[in-house]
Amino acid sequence: MAFPIHRLRRLRSHPQMRRLIRDVSLSVDHLAYPLFVRSGKGIRKEVSSMPGIFQLSMDQVLKEMDEIAKLSIPAVLLFGVPDSKDEKGSGAYAAAGIVQKALKAIKKEFPEILLMTDVCLCSYTSHGHCGIIKNPKSEIRNPKLNVDNDSTLPLLQKIAVSHAEAGADLVAPSGMMDGMVQAIREALDNKNFESLPIMAYSAKYASSFYGPFRDAAESLPQFGNRKSYQMDFQTGDEALREVSLDIDEGADVVMVKPALAYLDIIRAVKENFDIPLAAYHVSGEYSMVKAAAQKGWIKERDVITEILSASLRAGADILITYWAKEVARSLR
Ligand code: PBG
Repeated sequence: MAFPIHRLRRLRSHPQMRRLIRDVSLSVDHLAYPLFVRSGKGIRKEVSSMPGIFQLSMDQVLKEMDEIAKLSIPAVLLFGVPDSKDEKGSGAYAAAGIVQKALKAIKKEFPEILLMTDVCLCSYTSHGHCGIIKNPKSEIRNPKLNVDNDSTLPLLQKIAVSHAEAGADLVAPSGMMDGMVQAIREALDNKNFESLPIMAYSAKYASSFYGPFRDAAESLPQFGNRKSYQMDFQTGDEALREVSLDIDEGADVVMVKPALAYLDIIRAVKENFDIPLAAYHVSGEYSMVKAAAQKGWIKERDVITEILSASLRAGADILITYWAKEVARSLR
């Protein structure tokens, strides 16, 4: 006698049956697309380690936004690539900074799209770190790297307020400074931006998957690494403590980053907290899939769908991904 087919398999045989019993399905609704804005005109500079992703001058950003609007992608996450850097990252909170200018221009033409901004200093500081470093010279060989948390907070407040004033709809502090969410909440409330939400990069790991992004945002640390403020990937439960602190400080959305190698963390956050959760599918995830696809080793579209579905299954609500346009196109 043949072994009888199990009902689980019986339900798998018809494609429409499979559709009916899905737990998750990828839709454009959950996607946010990162954009890198730089100065100049007519510039579309491809990031060498991220084929298909560009640093864009303002006019090109508006063109890109047109495509994003047509694809019904709900949100973009803006990063600035400034012309000059200094020790205090002053370009990050200049009223006429690159992101501030972009926000104004985009808001005017595309008021329907949610504008998220990354609130951090690393692309704007000469040393490339996410906070103030009091004596950069003495830190060059210091494995413990002193980033001055408390003198960084007022600068993060300034960045967030300047983004809000320029038209941001959500601010996303990514520097892993302690107290940054509370500091930003207070600063926004003081300027009457009580209704502007904060998406905290709460469980942000010190990850080698950020490599290509640092080409895109030109934010490679000039010495040391980010391990004294970003999380150690050999820890798990600590992510829950980070998330819990950020929620207490007023985060409206929390984030796990990277996503693909951190599905356990996404799941744990989902199970432990009742708050919208974002997963950032970071540059290295994008680039390794791209590279394999370019070699003809994998089918890009199928792999993307599989990876992003895994994130949804794990519990993510918002998917921040460089694949947003590809996904939106494939769902049409
Ligand atoms: C800035 C920031 C980083 C990313 C997003 N915001 C880089 C970093 O911490 O070095 C990484 C995004 C990516 O790799 O796609 N702090």
